[in-house]
This record gives sequence, structure tokens and C-alpha cells, in this order.
Amino acid sequence: MEIKKVAVIGGGLMGRQIALNSAIYPYDVNIFDLKPEVREAVQKWEDEYLAGRIAKGRMSEEQVAGIKSRFHIIDTMAEAVKDADLVIEAVVERKDVKTAVFQELSGLVREDTILATNSSYMVSSTFKDVVKNPSRLLNMHYFNPALVMKLVEVCRGEHTADEVVDTVYAFAEATGKTPVRVEKEIDGFLANRILSAIYGEARKLVDEGYCTYQDLDKACENGLGHPMGPFRLNDLTGVDLTFDIMNRRYQETGVKPRGYDLYKQMVDEGRLGRKSGKGFYDYEKK
Ligand SMILES: NC(=O)c1ccc[n+]([C@@H]2O[C@H](COP(=O)([O-])OP(=O)(O)OC[C@H]3O[C@@H](n4cnc5c(N)ncnc54)[C@H](O)[C@@H]3O)[C@@H](O)[C@H]2O)c1
Repeated sequence: MEIKKVAVIGGGLMGRQIALNSAIYPYDVNIFDLKPEVREAVQKWEDEYLAGRIAKGRMSEEQVAGIKSRFHIIDTMAEAVKDADLVIEAVVERKDVKTAVFQELSGLVREDTILATNSSYMVSSTFKDVVKNPSRLLNMHYFNPALVMKLVEVCRGEHTADEVVDTVYAFAEATGKTPVRVEKEIDGFLANRILSAIYGEARKLVDEGYCTYQDLDKACENGLGHPMGPFRLNDLTGVDLTFDIMNRRYQETGVKPRGYDLYKQMVDEGRLGRKSGKGFYDYEKK
């Protein structure tokens, strides 16, 4: 199957970048977000990002005009997905919200439309009972910032058809990414599982008073050569996203994840990381 038309659901941090990356490569893309203010913000972000590429000499005026003509911000989900060959879901990391989105999507798309979720941790079989054609359902996990990071984890479930895995893998490659296949479902896939192990140990060391989070970051950056320590990285990916994941684990296991109280306090105070100007570190708010 060939992908010609892509739809992205959710215009937050990830959705807008996944959509723009697809338009750059050069697919025709519709993007939908439930909130009108987010749709407006996506338009502003797209304009600023592309103007910046011209100013830096990375793209020509002509290239940018082409990208803009392929990138459509749409006001309803029905309109956004009606001709889509591939729909990539990138809404908030909440099972109830994603389940409702997949249920609605399934009633709107063609029988053969591929439905992919960009969830950080939830495997696609979580949603297989609410879609009409689970053989077209799988995980397509991008990394932040999705315009820059190469990795896309393509994770199949037992319900996913081989052809769908191959098509999505080829699409990821065609859009400049380096896909990897995850052959069996596992929460968090590959890279985030490794990261989870690092986060767990980092939070333990800070929680138990062995060091500050700033020094823990310094240790990883200067001793292990990581581009960012775990807390600085968490500011980039969103403290609220980590807290959503912690909440889900807490509900599922009854065991309070390490650092839970600190993350709850940070979310309550609006310290969400770079996007809010403050997280573990302070940033100039854009
Ligand atoms: N932030 C990261 O580093 C990262 C990396 C990889 C994957 N992800 C995954 O990508 C997904 C999105 O994360 P994000 O960081 O972009 O979140 P975000 O909070 O920045 O954006 C989520 C968007 O979803 C929208 N939304 C909520 N309900 C909706 C609905 N019913 N229909 C349409 N839009 C809806 C919200 O208005 C919001 O704009 C999550 O599943 C997350 O786990 C995030």
C-alpha cells in the first residue's frame, strides 16, 4: 500500500512536528487539534519555523511555499481524516482520551486506513477492541523534537498485518527517519525502557539525598557523554507527560513511583519544563 495522504490528530508538541516533517518530505498532511487555540498556535509556529529556515538559508522561499501548500490545519476530525491513508494519533497520554479518539476515528476512516499511535508507553492493542479493523492498527513512536530526532519505533501487535508494518516502516524512511521494528508489544518500546531504567536510578539517588538533580545531570552529561542529563531531558519532554505516565503506573500497580510527590507538586505549580518556562531549570519563556 502506498501512503499519499496523512492525518495527524493532536497539534501539541509532537503532533505539529510529526505533521510538518511529513509535509517537508513531501506528503500532503491534515492536522487536527480539539482546541481552537492550539490550532491557531500551530499556524503561528509553522509560520515562524519556516520563516526561520529561510532566514538561516536552510530552505528556499519556493520550498517553503510548497510545504505550506501541503500542510493543512483542519477544524474537525471528520474532515481531517476523510481521505487519509495513514492517521497518526498524538493526543495527550491518557488512556481514556486516546480510546475515545480511536473509537471516533474508526467510524470516520476507510476500512484500509492505517491507524498509528505515537503513545510513549501504551501499546496499540490497548485500542484494538474499539477499532473496526485492528489489522491496520500499530504504534509509530517518534522522539522529541520530532523534526530533528531520527528514530521511529514501529511496534506491531499480534493484530497488526505484516503489510501494515512494512508500509509504515517505508513511510518513516521516506520522511527522513531511521525506523526500527519492535516485533512484540512491550510498554515503552525500546529506547524509553532504557531511559526508564536511568530515570529510576536518577530519582532514587536524588530522593535519598545522595546528590542534587543538577549534579546528577552534570554526572550524566560530563561522565557518560549524554547530551542531556535525565532531569534536563525531562524539562524538554514535559514534566506533565512524565506525571501522566507515573499516574498510570500508580493506578495499575498500586505502588507509588519514585519522585511522584515532587512531580505532582511541579505539575500543580505549572512547572512543566521548557514549554512553561520553568521546570527543573528556568528558561526564557517564548
Ligand atoms: N513529549 C514528548 O517528548 C513525546 C515523545 C514521544 C511521544 N510522545 C507522545 O505523543 C503524544 C502527545 O504528546 P505531546 O507531548 O505532544 O502532548 P501535548 O500535551 O503537547 O499535546 C497533546 C495535544 O492533544 C490535544 N488533544 C487532546 N484531546 C484531543 C482530542 N480528543 N482530539 C484532538 N486533539 C486532542 C490537546 O489539545 C493537545 O494540544 C502522547 O501520547 C505522548 O506520550 C510525546
